[in-house]
Amino acid sequence: MYFMGQVTPAIIATWSFGLKAAEAGMRVLKAKGSALDAVEEAVKAVENDLSIRSVGLGGYPNMLGDVELDASIMDGSTLRAGAVAAVKNVKNPISLARKVMELTPHVMLVGEGACMFARLIGLEHRMPLQPEAEKAWREYIVRVMHSRPEKGTLEFWAKYIHELRSHDTIGVVAIDGNGNVAAGCSTSGLAFKMPGRVGDSPIIGSGIYADNLAGGASATGLGEDIMRFCVTRMVVEYMYRGMSAQEAADAAIDFILKRDGNAKHIAVVALDARGRPGASTTYDTFEYAFMGADMDKPVLRSINRLK
Ligand code: GLY
Repeated sequence: MYFMGQVTPAIIATWSFGLKAAEAGMRVLKAKGSALDAVEEAVKAVENDLSIRSVGLGGYPNMLGDVELDASIMDGSTLRAGAVAAVKNVKNPISLARKVMELTPHVMLVGEGACMFARLIGLEHRMPLQPEAEKAWREYIVRVMHSRPEKGTLEFWAKYIHELRSHDTIGVVAIDGNGNVAAGCSTSGLAFKMPGRVGDSPIIGSGIYADNLAGGASATGLGEDIMRFCVTRMVVEYMYRGMSAQEAADAAIDFILKRDGNAKHIAVVALDARGRPGASTTYDTFEYAFMGADMDKPVLRSINRLK
């Protein structure tokens, strides 16, 4: 049985920068905007902050010094979705993903094709690498070339990239007063990744999923782990079966840890169709932001698995 009653608008977002996202999204919801608009504005608030090194054009570049961005958005009222992957020179990949959903017959555009589409619709935005990101990239290259015995080998890159652990996606789920659910996420992906590497964020069912009948979810963490489990589709699947957002998030994380105890870098946030929040993680600690329309400002909540 699906919930069809009145809902208090709510929004949930990953990490402490989720506070900024939740605030921006809630402004839209309080003005009676849609969940989809709220998610786009929430994600943009983080993409526009050039001091953040894991989202948007302020993010760390790939191995060659180019910032490559991934994003996706899903409308739970229609099950339509849009995504972009490995896109360059776009300030708001979440808006580009939404345009893929609204203006094309496709769900996902990648690489040069996605960049060409951005240029065509006026979303191209060229900007030099942020100085701190460039400095970190140069230091990384020097360390790679001079300090590792396996230098130059694929084995080395794989090991080093897993040590970096810089993959804090902004992931957002919102529900509006009409019970419409939407989810979106955006990331610059793994710092100094191989060119063309794509994580979970633009993959529908991995980075995000939303359906008004059940709720929505967004994931953050190591894309290579999240994609193997289709984490957000799993959380929504549990909600289809009647679990609350919290029960569904916990059930998904329990399943993942039982199946592969090494999948230590996954977190998920969710809202069910009643607007109740849930979050769970395989990290030792994880923070997320939540705000309901009956609150003055978002709260930051944390999960500590070590306690
Ligand atoms: N979760 C973001 C990424 O791995 O690219």
